[in-house]
Formats: sequence, structure tokens, C-alpha cells
Amino acid sequence: MASVSEVKDEPGQPPALTSLSLAEAAQEAKSKEQIVTPFDVSGGLDELGNPKAIDYDKLVDTFGSQRIDKLLLDRFEKVTGHKPHRMLRRGLVFSHRDLNLILDKYEKGIPFFLYTGRGPSSDSMHVGHTIPFEFTKYLQDVFDVPLVIMLTDDEKFYHTPRLSLKDVYKFTIQNAMDIIAVGFDMKKTFIFADTEFVDGGFAAAFNNNVRELGKRTTINQIKGTFGFNDSNNIAEFAFPAMQSATAFATSFPFIFGTDPKKVAKVPCLIPCAIDQDPYFRQCRDNAPKMGYLKPAIIHSVFLPSLRGRESKMSASDADSSIFLSDTDNQVKKKVGKAFSGGQDTAEEHRRIGGRTAVDVPFQYLTFFMEDDEELERIRIEYEEGRMQSGELKMACTKELQAYVGGFRDRRKAVTEEIRREFMRPRQLVFRGMPAEKELQDARNKRIMTLEEELGKLKNAH
Ligand code: TYM
Repeated sequence: MASVSEVKDEPGQPPALTSLSLAEAAQEAKSKEQIVTPFDVSGGLDELGNPKAIDYDKLVDTFGSQRIDKLLLDRFEKVTGHKPHRMLRRGLVFSHRDLNLILDKYEKGIPFFLYTGRGPSSDSMHVGHTIPFEFTKYLQDVFDVPLVIMLTDDEKFYHTPRLSLKDVYKFTIQNAMDIIAVGFDMKKTFIFADTEFVDGGFAAAFNNNVRELGKRTTINQIKGTFGFNDSNNIAEFAFPAMQSATAFATSFPFIFGTDPKKVAKVPCLIPCAIDQDPYFRQCRDNAPKMGYLKPAIIHSVFLPSLRGRESKMSASDADSSIFLSDTDNQVKKKVGKAFSGGQDTAEEHRRIGGRTAVDVPFQYLTFFMEDDEELERIRIEYEEGRMQSGELKMACTKELQAYVGGFRDRRKAVTEEIRREFMRPRQLVFRGMPAEKELQDARNKRIMTLEEELGKLKNAH
């Protein structure tokens, strides 16, 4: 097709091909494909330049993951003996890679570990960030497995020009306390901040995995996967190896033991929203080349922005978000202004009914309301016009105030001492943990080496 600049209407001629081509070209120029990377999430634009909702079915196809279907949910329930979490039941946790293999191993009593994380970009997390953490807590309770939580303060420092190392570390401490307040089991959970852990003397094995990954990753691959160009800094190019290294149990000998052959077989399951998938696609490509298992992944959709489902709730856009530090009054005000699928007048709403698919307060209820029957009642009442938008917003406000309020109470109980303990490299307690003997042997070996060295030194004098 001719480009816009080549096509001109002839004066006095019917607007045949030429105008049509112009219109088509203009439409083509306006529409934009959706983008989902860890740094950019947008549903794209339609032919008229209007923002579109994220098409998750299309994402599953382009990313090459699998949908979580009824069959898999039934198997999950059978294997674990637990009712699937509301986010699984409602398709909000919707896609996976190798979850079936994790269930196979669990059935055989082979232990695995969970891994998730947060990039501390602000001092308070928003409720969207808690989605993967809530879900991870549920998985930890159901499977009774160890969990590693990575705080990528380095990632945020490299990627955000205005942030200093001091800023991101301050956010890291606050975010760690927020995450602890989700309710993780201290005995089974290790939280670490990249800038602290890599220099702390416990990261020799982790750093070697970063090196192995770095050696296998080309600039071309990073550009293709993350959309980086020559203006991105070199630290951003190197960072993905850090996020990937955490998916290997061998990175944490103090948790999983020191026998590399045995530990390499401990599988990992990563819950996250689907924006993090690009990191783990790269990790999965490299894992077999390093003699490791590919990590399994379980993806959630994004909690939408207060402005509408075309974009996700994002810490960089304060008006799009409800923060965990918000007061009841702030929550009420924000939900009051959220995008509504209701009609312009009460009369019209009664006649036509509301659109739950685009209504942000209704969408929030699907994430946070536990009661399936009550949610269904609200859906029907709203869609059939018997429930007005204000009433729906009130129900959502109540639910979110309870969620944020419960969080606030638990957060108050998280002391600096508790945070330090969660972030101390240490042995965790879980089914199938390495025998104390193995860890003791490792410690003894280290003591013997030191004693031998001391002996040699003594003899030399
Ligand atoms: P970050 O801090 O951008 O996001 C933390 C987690 O929250 C998810 N997320 C959301 N989930 C639902 N609705 C939203 N609106 C929303 N916004 C963000 C993210 O997918 C993520 O799961 N690089 C990572 C930190 C990280 C990590 C990991 C995350 C390191 N290792 C392993 C998940 C799994 C980051 O900056 O996340």
C-alpha cells in the first residue's frame, strides 16, 4: 500500500481509491500493538487510536505459555487437597509454564521451592503488588515449602535515573516490612536485597550462577526480550542474570545444602504477574545448558489502574493506585473516582444496566472478595440495573478498606528485629530439608580446613 505522503486526492475527482487509502493508512498509523515487558505494560491502541484492554489470550499465545484450565485446577485440588484460591477459580491467575510438573513432583514427595520478588521503586507498595504475594502465601501454606523473596533494589537503581542507591535501599527496607505483613512463615521464608546479599559473604554460589548466566546471554537476546536499545545502560543489560539466578536452588546452599548434584534437582515455582515472564523465558532457555531444571511459572493478570482496565495499577502513576499506606478516607475517595461501567443517569442505568467487564470497582471485587456467591449476586444486580454505580463503589470501598486496614494492623506488628531475621541468610525449616548432618558436615569441613591452615602456619613458624 502507498504511504500517506504518496497518496493525494485529485481536485474534482470522486474520492475513490486515494481517500480510501488515506483513511486506511491513517488507521494503520493509529493502531498500536499491546506491549508487556517488565518495564512497559499497555494494551495498545485500536484503529481509531483509543486505548485497548490487555488481551491476555493473545499474550499466552505470543509468550508461548499454557492456559490454566479446569482440568489442571481439578488436578491441583486433588493433589493438594485444597480448594483453589479465588484468583485461580476466577481466572485471575490464568497461565503457567510446567505447573503440571511441579504437581507431579509434589505428588511423589519431591520438595520444591517458591520464588517471587519486588523491585523497590517507592516506599509504599500498592494493592496490585500484593496480588502475587497474597497468592504466593497461599501456595506456601498449601504446599508447605520454602520461599525466597528477591528485592531487586539494584534493578530499580539502574533503571530509574532519579533514584540514588540510598533511595532504593530505603524503599527496600520499607517494602520488606510490607511484604512480611502479608503473613509469610518466618521459618520457611528468606528475603534478600540484591545490593546487600551479593556482598554479604553468603552469595558465592549465587554469584557463580549469575556469571554462568551472563556468559550465555547476548546483547541481542536482551534487546529482543526487553526492548532495550543502545541508550540503555550496561548495568540494565547485565541485570537479568541476577533475577534468573534466584530460580536455581544451587544459589542458596545455606537453605538447600551443598551437594550440587542433589540440589540442582530441586525445582522452583515462580508466582508473578505476566510482565515478569520475559526474565524467566531467558532463564528457562539457559537452565538446561547449566545442568539445571527449568523453573516453573504461574502468571496472574494485572490489577487494573483506577483509571480503567487499559493499563495496570502502577507505582509510578499515583492517581492509578491504592497504596497500602492509604487511609480509609483516601481509599473511599479513590474508589469514588474510579472508572465506572455504569450509565450516565440512574434512569438509564436501571434500563440498560452496568458493564461489569469495564467497571473498575467491580473488577477490584473479583480480586479481593472471597465470597463467590456474593460476588455473583452483585454482578447480576449491577448488570441488570438494580444496583447503581454508587452502591457498587460502596461495596468495593468496604472490601478494600478491610483489606488495606487488615494489612495496616499486621504491618504495625512488623518490627525491625523481625525484618532483620527474615533477611538473615539461614537454614529454613521445611519438609525434605537437607539433613542437619549434611549441613553440619559442610560446617565441619570448613572448620577442618581452617584448622589445617592454622596448623600449617604454626609449623611454618
Ligand atoms: P515489581 O516490583 O514491578 O512488581 C512486584 C510484583 O507485582 C507484580 N505486579 C502486579 N501484579 C498485579 N497487578 C499489578 N498492577 C501489578 N504490578 C506489578 C509483578 O509482576 C511482580 O510479581 N523485577 C521484579 C522483582 C522480581 C520478581 C522476581 C518478581 C525479582 N524476582 C520473581 C516476581 C518474581 C519487579 O520489579 O517487580
